Amino acid sequence: MKKLSLLIVLALVALTSCNDGPKNEKPSTERSEESKSKIAAMKLAQDNHSFSRPNDAVVTHLAWDAKVDFETKVISGTAHFDIDNKSKGNKIIFDTRDLDIQAVMLDDQTPSSWELGPEKEFMGQALVVEITPETKKVSITYASSPDAGALLWVEGEKPFLFTQSQAILARTWIPCQDSPGVRYTYEADVQVREDLMALMSASNPTEKSADGKYHFEMKQAIPSYLMALAVGDIEYRSMGPNTAVYATPDLIEAAAWEFAETEDMLVAAEALYGDYVWDRYDLLILPAAFPFGGMENPRLTFATPTIIAGDRSLTSLVAHELAHSWSGNLVTNSTWDDFWLNEGFTVYFEQRIMEAVYGRDISEMLAQLSYQGLVKEVDEIMDKNPNDTHLKLHLKDRDPDDGMSAIAYDKGYFFLRMLEENVGRSTFDAFLKDYFTSNAFSVMDTEQFVAHLKAKLLDETAYTALRIDDWIYGAGLPENCPTVGSDRLVKVDEAIQKWTSGEQSSKDLPWNDWMYQERYRFLTNLPSEGVDEKMLKELDEEYGITETGNNEVLFAWLEQSILHQYQPAYPQLRSFLTSVGRRKFLTPLYRAMLETEQRDMAMSIYEEARPAYHSVATGTMDELLSWSESE
Ligand code: BES
Ligand code: ZN
Repeated sequence: MKKLSLLIVLALVALTSCNDGPKNEKPSTERSEESKSKIAAMKLAQDNHSFSRPNDAVVTHLAWDAKVDFETKVISGTAHFDIDNKSKGNKIIFDTRDLDIQAVMLDDQTPSSWELGPEKEFMGQALVVEITPETKKVSITYASSPDAGALLWVEGEKPFLFTQSQAILARTWIPCQDSPGVRYTYEADVQVREDLMALMSASNPTEKSADGKYHFEMKQAIPSYLMALAVGDIEYRSMGPNTAVYATPDLIEAAAWEFAETEDMLVAAEALYGDYVWDRYDLLILPAAFPFGGMENPRLTFATPTIIAGDRSLTSLVAHELAHSWSGNLVTNSTWDDFWLNEGFTVYFEQRIMEAVYGRDISEMLAQLSYQGLVKEVDEIMDKNPNDTHLKLHLKDRDPDDGMSAIAYDKGYFFLRMLEENVGRSTFDAFLKDYFTSNAFSVMDTEQFVAHLKAKLLDETAYTALRIDDWIYGAGLPENCPTVGSDRLVKVDEAIQKWTSGEQSSKDLPWNDWMYQERYRFLTNLPSEGVDEKMLKELDEEYGITETGNNEVLFAWLEQSILHQYQPAYPQLRSFLTSVGRRKFLTPLYRAMLETEQRDMAMSIYEEARPAYHSVATGTMDELLSWSESE
């Protein structure tokens, strides 16, 4: 009784503590107890993307002992799990995919019987381990496959390895209950080559060790999709009291300058929605083959180097991944059908951080670009499968990767913005702050969120008037979608009009005065008619766009170059596609080549580039290009 009330008091102190003053006064161990007691009580929803049955028997802690071998491209070791056999039944189920399971032991090294279930596309195989009602520990000795889906082994004198676990790829490098609803704490001992550093989504070293051994601890319970590891010739540079950047020696200086505002973002984020509970917020700049812009691995965001522009113009990605420390990592989508609860909330939060740090002008430009992308994608998806434009997704029997569209992100964002505009910002902020604190270290599904909305923010009349069900369970964009007001982008659109009608020459465009967002708008909002190769040539001669150091602008430029067959940019196109593996850039560029009957060029570039791409990217590109190994 006494212990329980102490815990409640501690939890209340944590939830109500204010933002100023030093962070993390509450020791991590207490937090982990708090997070664990909550987890034990939770009844989890059925997750169609995991074989595990966490309501029967669930993992609570992982001690991972592993060796990383660049020669064989294999991670091998033992995953020692603490388990809670809730049902007192006789089995516990893990997810695996392409793992070589060598032995399974219970408690103090009693060998156990186990079996692998049938292989299922993108799901892998269930590992069913026989246990007793009293079993407390399960240890699995295994090795990953050289083509494990999560891993990319980048070759070189100083090789690099990174993982990308979201959505269901953690099971390709660690046997686990690979469902976002299952949270556990972890510690790890990892052996790597002596000249390399290892980092995880956990407490991290700031220097290389002498013997290539590293110890990690993650004291807050996290789901498996946030398990992450990187190994490489990595250096550390502090950026502020709670923020630092890790990168290879060639990038560390530039990265530390580019992301120097990260600490300001952290301060702004805490002021908005409550304490940052993960102790540190560091960035790791990965090789350009990283298939995403960023990944919110707790304590250590993984990021593409393509956001180093030299002028701090692409830092909204950092705001986004930082925001996930609340939306996603603290309050986690229950299943991948609820992905919008992670990403929509994160885009909203990202925008608020951007507004706080850089001002409304900038954040409105970003919102306008998000709207532009959303409208385009809604149109495309409506033609193929209108149900995929619902916020609540239907991913059963599909790869959860299919849910990664602008819907979760930008329809999610506009939904929350619509709520904000209707209830007023201060009411909405209080609602969100309460949402994050009262659901900290829990999972959330769409139905629970709707219940929360009804209980705390909207009465029946408002719920109906704001068309909440249309937003969440309906197709397309409801007509009460907010409109964005960016005067600066309106001016860009006017410039487009004048330039494409011949009223204004390339020379007279205010390109040099434009910020990244304005340049991007210009290049992505050009009408397909009214632009030709000659006009692109003039632009390029005037402003040297092919040589721009801003990869977002370069991407948009290369897309236009393909569409209008502006050949002088083609060498740059090839070099971009063979060095950058970010899927968001690859898909539109290869697609543009297909759409303009330049398939031969697409295939020739892809053949050269493919070996260096991550499985997440080749998965999508193979399908787009109908690639088969024999080509
Ligand atoms: N968590 C996502 C990346 C992700 C989603 C990986 C689903 C695998 C499955 C991350 O936070 C993200 O959204 N990244 C974006 C950047 C962002 C600024 C929109 C990206 O990589 O483009
Ligand atoms: Zn995200």
